[in-house]
Amino acid sequence: CGIVGYIGNSDTKEILLKGLEKLEYRGYDSAGIAVQNADGIHVFKEKGRIADLRGIVDENVATNTGIGHTRWATHGVPSQVNAHPHQSTSGRFTIVHNGVIENYSQLKRQYLTDVAFKSETDTEIIVQLIEKLVEEGNAVEEAFRQTLMLLKGSYAIALLDAENDETIFVGKNKSPLLVGLGEGFNVVASDAMAMIQVTDQFVELMDKEMVIVTKEKVEIQNLIGEVMERAPYTAEIDASDIEKGTYPHYMLKEIDEQPLVMRKIIQAYQNENNELHIDEPIVGAMKEADRIYIIAAGTSYHAGLVGKQFIEKSAGIPVEVHVASEFNYNMPLLSEKPLFIFISQSGETADSRAVLVQVKEMGHKALTVTNVAGSTLSREADYTLLLHAGPEIAVASTKAYTAQLAVLAILAHVTGQSCGTVQDFDLIQELGIVATAMEALCDTKEEFEEIAREYLSTTRNCFFIGRSLDFYVGLEGSLKLKEISYIQAEGFAGGELKHGTIALIEEGTPVVALATQEAVNLSIRGNVKEVVARGANPCIISMKGLEDEEDRFVIPEVNPMLTPLISVIPLQLISYYAALHRDCDVDKPRNLAKSVTVE
Ligand code: G6P
Repeated sequence: CGIVGYIGNSDTKEILLKGLEKLEYRGYDSAGIAVQNADGIHVFKEKGRIADLRGIVDENVATNTGIGHTRWATHGVPSQVNAHPHQSTSGRFTIVHNGVIENYSQLKRQYLTDVAFKSETDTEIIVQLIEKLVEEGNAVEEAFRQTLMLLKGSYAIALLDAENDETIFVGKNKSPLLVGLGEGFNVVASDAMAMIQVTDQFVELMDKEMVIVTKEKVEIQNLIGEVMERAPYTAEIDASDIEKGTYPHYMLKEIDEQPLVMRKIIQAYQNENNELHIDEPIVGAMKEADRIYIIAAGTSYHAGLVGKQFIEKSAGIPVEVHVASEFNYNMPLLSEKPLFIFISQSGETADSRAVLVQVKEMGHKALTVTNVAGSTLSREADYTLLLHAGPEIAVASTKAYTAQLAVLAILAHVTGQSCGTVQDFDLIQELGIVATAMEALCDTKEEFEEIAREYLSTTRNCFFIGRSLDFYVGLEGSLKLKEISYIQAEGFAGGELKHGTIALIEEGTPVVALATQEAVNLSIRGNVKEVVARGANPCIISMKGLEDEEDRFVIPEVNPMLTPLISVIPLQLISYYAALHRDCDVDKPRNLAKSVTVE
């Protein structure tokens, strides 16, 4: 979910709606705004997208204060009733909330047994609790503070009081939230991108802080009432980076940007002698570690699997890769001197952050590899490496994945050079070849449109097989296809499908096989034969130099270590066209959100 708020002199409605459109990547199953003027608070909320919300907002309500929300459902189905904002029984208080209140049923039982709830959300208990404490005689600010102290879980909250149109009350714990500063107005937002059209000056909030926001002033307090001073920073977001331009979808634009991102990364990680460079404290931390733990979710986890190979092969340090949500509650035995690497496009994924908090408490060092400078995971880790991929808007990650691979390759390489395990390998040149190969692939889109039409127009399921690095890319390819085309897809190690799942192969079942690794070229082709013998429709994507006449597509040759950077592109494009052919919403697939800030 994402929240916004504005207090000032301009008409709020458009600022809030525009802000919410920029936050739609965080969830889009329902949305709402509450705007306030001398007559009181007016709530507009609707199931569906911001575009649906626009349709019901009354243009004639003039207002300079308001809050808004776009939702990714956690508690309660997506519906108009469960959409935010939520109001207290008397209607005096109105709230928007991102996060999950873990103790909501307990608070309900303990304090609110006499309240008739309108929604199924955990959020409503917050606003009802505030009303209750105010009815008991507390000032609003005090009631807000006491409520925040009772909440367990994550929240980014903005609250309006119908009896005070000069203040927005704001609270934060775990969920991301920023306050933006303007001349005669102030704003709040889950992400600076949402308010970049009105200001580029933002103040970070820490966990368990509340803020009293008026149009003239922003007062940050901790929960015992101490005022915190904090200087603003300038958010460097180029508004044009977040537009689609002439592209029909962000995803296609972002796929096409990959060669450019490669070149930006090569530049960003070069020193004045044109050598690859990573800051010494990071290389030092890598070398000191006896084992590296990569923690990530979704696509970033898949990048981690490839990253493990890079680091182990180049730097000789053992690496484990873990899904964040599992690691958090089921931590493996750690080595004596672990280093944690968090990979996260957004830098906000709650599952990963929960691990970071835990390992920091244990006294371990952490490096975050992220696309978003100043994100929570970046701020809270000891070190950060940036992806330089520019804002990624489509929910399905593409350019961030290849950027993650490139940055991990550079990290592994520079560490290897420093350890003496890498010699005579010109990674700058090899990444340059990758960028050119990416361009060639992006220029042959019709081929992938055709493959998608031929194999995926009507199928119910699809398998991706590969061995070693190709296996990991297959996992990512299957995730892409699932996410945006809703075809049931699974990635398998080439040798593993036969140990059970081959039972699902029927006449015509598509099996995409990657063959870019010389050492396993014959064995993966053997696995293809096994599925073909059971009726599968094979689509072999191989690399130049390893090709065979049965192959459906041959990608240009790059260094064998770096093949994941380019073999993923056909899979991204095939998924894109499969989703188009099936009439799916490519950029905003059902049930998903780009940045998942709840555990
Ligand atoms: C969400 C997105 C995925 C993404 C994952 C991790 O589930 O839908 O596309 O890979 O989060 O996100 P992160 O920002 O941590 O890389």
